[in-house]
Order: sequence, then C-alpha cells, then structure tokens
Amino acid sequence: MEHVHLLDHPLLQHKLSILRDENTSVKDFREIVSEVATLMCYEATRDLPLKEVEVQTPVAKAVTHQISGKKLAIVPILRAGLGMVDGILTLIPGAKVGHIGLFRDPETLEPVKYYCKMPTDIAQRDVIVLDPMLATGGSASAAITFLKEYGVTHIKLMNILAAPEGVARVRADHPDVEIYIAAMDEKLNDHGYIVPGLGDAGDRIFGTK
Ligand code: PRP
Ligand code: URA
Repeated sequence: MEHVHLLDHPLLQHKLSILRDENTSVKDFREIVSEVATLMCYEATRDLPLKEVEVQTPVAKAVTHQISGKKLAIVPILRAGLGMVDGILTLIPGAKVGHIGLFRDPETLEPVKYYCKMPTDIAQRDVIVLDPMLATGGSASAAITFLKEYGVTHIKLMNILAAPEGVARVRADHPDVEIYIAAMDEKLNDHGYIVPGLGDAGDRIFGTK
C-alpha cells in the first residue's frame, strides 16, 4: 500500500514473535520494544538527506557524507509510546522529544487528550510519532492533527503492530504521512484490540496488569 512501509527484517519478525507471546516477562517485553524501535528507526530514516563534507583522515582528505536538512523530533503517544523513545535516541541522540498524552475511552474508543509538552521549535522539525499500537487509528490521527496545528509539516508515524482499520484511518485523515509498521495483523476485536496482536502494550511495558 502506498505510503505504508512494512518492515519485515528477520530480526524484527523474531523480536515481534517474542512480544506477542503472553509468557514474555515485563522486563523482556520492555527491552524488546526498545530494540524493535531501534531497528525500525534504521529503516524509517533511510531517506534522510545528506550533504557532502570533507574530512581529514589520518591518511588523506576524504569527501564523505553527513546528515543535513531539518532537525528531528520524536513524539511518543503516552503511555505506550514511551517504550520506544530510548530505542530511537540510541540512533538519533540529538533528537528532541515532545510528549502527547492520549488514552482511549474504553466505551467509545475515542482518544482523550490529557497532556502535551512540545519542544518550542517543533514547527521547524521533522517529526516521528511513536506508538507501538495502531488499532482504530484514532489516537495516531488525533496526535498528527495536533502536530499539524502546531505547524509541523513533515510527519512520519511509527507503529510496531497495526490493524488494517488503523492504517486506513490514518491514510484517509493524513494522506501525507508515511507509516512504518513491523506487522499488519488481521483485524480488531469488539473491544478495539488488535487480533492476534500482543495485548495491551502499555500494560505490558509498565507491568500495570
Ligand atoms: C493504546 C495504544 C495506542 C492506542 C491505540 O493506548 O498505546 O495509543 O491504544 O488505539 P487506537 O488506534 O484505537 O487509538 P491506551 O489508550 O491503551 O493508553 P495507554 O498507552 O496509556 O495504555
Ligand atoms: N491498544 C493496545 O495496547 N493494544 C491493542 O490491541 C489495541 C489498542
């Protein structure tokens, strides 16, 4: 599907299999979410622009390349998106981090915003929105709308697991956004959970259930 990048590297598939397993401990789950975020970040930043620079090696002058263009920010959707932050910062330590707190109303499945703190120069940055789960897509779509209201013009969305419904929702609401996922599951159940999925990502990262 256009603008949807399914990242199916064998390392990602292996780690995702462990995340899905209900017997995986909170400690392992949290560590693997972070590792998955690092691997996904490697792919999602493949199109970063480069500029030529000249450096002096111990042997000779070399024309090499370094990243140029707009600076990056990452925006985790609380809570579960927090689990992906360190994994991204491993590769992009200079990225600034904005936070947006959304929870899904269990009855309506609509996102409810309860927190927001963005870097002051967020409008000048390229942004990657982080959330392990893209279910109905309501949370991701609301977070992206919010960033656009702040003046952000270039947004990527990174989810570990997606349901077709969530991808369709974000594609319809925000056709300009590139979506990076490690797996597309079958469907949502009556409670809006991804099937087969991995359960409640926030609870499994933080051990709250
Ligand atoms: C989960 C998940 C997403 C959202 C996805 O968060 O981390 O943010 O649901 O569902 P959607 O695509 O249907 O909006 P949840 O509301 O459980 O909050 P939490 O991260 O604080 O546990
Ligand atoms: N949020 C989760 O954490 N898991 C799902 O399956 C759906 C929404």
